[in-house]
Amino acid sequence: MRLLTKVLILVMLSFGCVSRAGEAQSGGSIEQKVESLLKKMTLQEKLGQMNQINWPWERSKAKVELFAEQVEKGRISSFLSLSVLPMSVGERNELQKIAVEKSRLGVPLIFGFDVIHGYRTIFPIPLAQSCTWDPMLVEKAASISAKEATSMGVDWTFAPMVDIARDPRWGRIAEGFGEDPYLASIFATACVRGFQGRDLSSVRSLVACLKHYVGYGAAEGGRDYNTCEIAERTLREVYLPPFKAGVEAGAATVMSAFNEISGIPAAANRRTLTEILKVEWRFEGFVVSDWDSVNELIKHGFAEDQAQAAHKALTAGVDMDMVSQAYLKELPRLVIEGKVLESVVDEAVRRILGIKLRTGLFDRPYVDPKLAEPTLLTDENLQVAREVARKSIVLLKNEKSLLPLKKDLKSLAVIGPLADNQGDLLGCWYGAGRADDVVSVLQGIRSKVSSDCDLIYAKGCDITGSSVDGFAEAVRLARKADVVILVVGESKDMSGEAHSRASLDLPGVQQRLVKAVHAVGKPVVVVLLSGRPMSVSWIKENVPAIMLAWHPGTQGGNAVADCLFGDYNPSGKLTTSFPRTVGQVPIYYNHKNTGRPASDSIYTSKYIDVPNAPLFAFGYGLSYTTFEYSNLKVNPSKISTGQSVKVTADIKNTGTRSGEEVAQLYIRDLVASATRPVRELKGFQKVHLQPGQTKTVSFTLLPEHLAFYDVHMNWVVEPGQFKVWVGPNCTEGLDGGFEVACRASRPVASD
Ligand code: NOJ
Repeated sequence: MRLLTKVLILVMLSFGCVSRAGEAQSGGSIEQKVESLLKKMTLQEKLGQMNQINWPWERSKAKVELFAEQVEKGRISSFLSLSVLPMSVGERNELQKIAVEKSRLGVPLIFGFDVIHGYRTIFPIPLAQSCTWDPMLVEKAASISAKEATSMGVDWTFAPMVDIARDPRWGRIAEGFGEDPYLASIFATACVRGFQGRDLSSVRSLVACLKHYVGYGAAEGGRDYNTCEIAERTLREVYLPPFKAGVEAGAATVMSAFNEISGIPAAANRRTLTEILKVEWRFEGFVVSDWDSVNELIKHGFAEDQAQAAHKALTAGVDMDMVSQAYLKELPRLVIEGKVLESVVDEAVRRILGIKLRTGLFDRPYVDPKLAEPTLLTDENLQVAREVARKSIVLLKNEKSLLPLKKDLKSLAVIGPLADNQGDLLGCWYGAGRADDVVSVLQGIRSKVSSDCDLIYAKGCDITGSSVDGFAEAVRLARKADVVILVVGESKDMSGEAHSRASLDLPGVQQRLVKAVHAVGKPVVVVLLSGRPMSVSWIKENVPAIMLAWHPGTQGGNAVADCLFGDYNPSGKLTTSFPRTVGQVPIYYNHKNTGRPASDSIYTSKYIDVPNAPLFAFGYGLSYTTFEYSNLKVNPSKISTGQSVKVTADIKNTGTRSGEEVAQLYIRDLVASATRPVRELKGFQKVHLQPGQTKTVSFTLLPEHLAFYDVHMNWVVEPGQFKVWVGPNCTEGLDGGFEVACRASRPVASD
């Protein structure tokens, strides 16, 4: 570096007035406060605001002292801590005290933590939560997470993850809301509202972060961090909508993704970060990179060194650098040399300070440790966790009404590696959740059955591994029992980040265990616990009852037992297709028809060894009662572009128990200037019906539901025929149609 540059850097880094920010904060609008602070900042302090550091697991005295020194110098804006050992309230307050009272401008730190599906009370994994089709309940769960987390000093969560996933090999499918952009958008909105509440400055508001922007779920081969090839149309129609919905709901931050999108890494993608997010959608919060992903631009082959990486990420629109420290190290020189305009740095800092001000951190930088514990694991939190867990359970099969079970069975065998298991029910990203807090499936069942029931348990085998030593005992117990419940699936660390699988089969020897126990000839119920859809074809063919409980969280065992014994009538519906075999993936219901849709003819789009249809389809899920759909009305049958259509149908509970049904509305635009999916979800309603009761569900299809990106990428409704279905899942239902009569002269809505 030239001497002059060095001198200039020193001058710029140390220049600044001495007044403290706290004083500057009194009075004025947030914008005025931001500007007043910005004026006082040295370049180094600005870059400090753009720097997020990981709070380490191993907290040596030397490390902590180094952090304290950096905070005092205004070189750190934010800490994030990781599960297992999150930062304590005391540690947080101490660091905050240095930032607020000792750093020159007194700008508070913002503390982040991955509160993905709960802080201490762990709710089911997000994929499971989406199977409730109950956004209000999911919002409630997020607000409880916010309450617990903020009381423990967390200001900011890196959630919701709103990546669309069409490939269950990808371990992070567990963290999102499934394969459908419409549904994921609704849950994105619900989570943002739940975490942040109505007022970002309220003491229990947890700053949300929409991630991973964008296209991360399209990882080739389902392998985490892998390349994504996404056409503009697919980006707009499939991957962007949940982010847009989250931004509209007021999400304060967005995290850029690890992946590249058709050659341009997401962490340096000006098109998506600036042109779409910040300009087109007018996002006013800030963008944080994912972990070290600014540095990773070098490995992508997109930057030759850290300086170029910092340059590219910042100018593309990443405001805060998570962990890599590339901004702090490299931007001073780039600014001095005029390679990066200081105004670009200012813009990033403005966004970060704006959020810190809006959250009330300046007014209330500390957390009262005495108020922390009483918010955790309260009766209300646990009750909501149980409610979410039982509503996220999907009944996949129930031959001859084997379920629900009677509580006064003479003898019940509970078998399988996930039966007497607490830790794995937490699922991936379990925050500050603890295995000891979890109700296992065995415990849940034990608390249901009558004292006369002989409840017997055998593990049978491990989740992974090849030992069959436990089979004999499992078979022996199965012989003694009236009914067998087999609890099988995946451990919590078989899904989530960096945990992609090439096989979707039950791991280890579990399938063999199921076969061995099934061969005994007793009625068998399989309870499946997993973080992804699994190819359980043999089980579907042979076992009479299957209940999918995902990784159901702290109250999982109680929720499973509620469903098994009929204290709750299952109502969950799948939000992701279950493939028959891994060879079918990517598999999703809203696919295109192709020029040769599958038929009996050989030269059509199909496999020669398995059907195209999934094992269980999107939207599918059974109940202990039955529902009948009738009387579909589509009104009017002809509209012009810009008008709406009303769709109604009657649903009757034709069984003997009360229950809930998720009625789903799908459409198909039959002919368009760009091909359209064979079905698209455009509405749903959850109705509760007593036996014999009928209710009418009513939907309004607005122009925005009928519009799409035409051949010129304009968002329009094109004239032509539309098909419409109202039904219990994506393959069944009543069908009707309507016509859109004349071409819109210009786009019907801006997008
Ligand atoms: C990397 C993950 O991709 C992201 O989802 C998470 O929020 C950060 N690490 C922080 O833990």
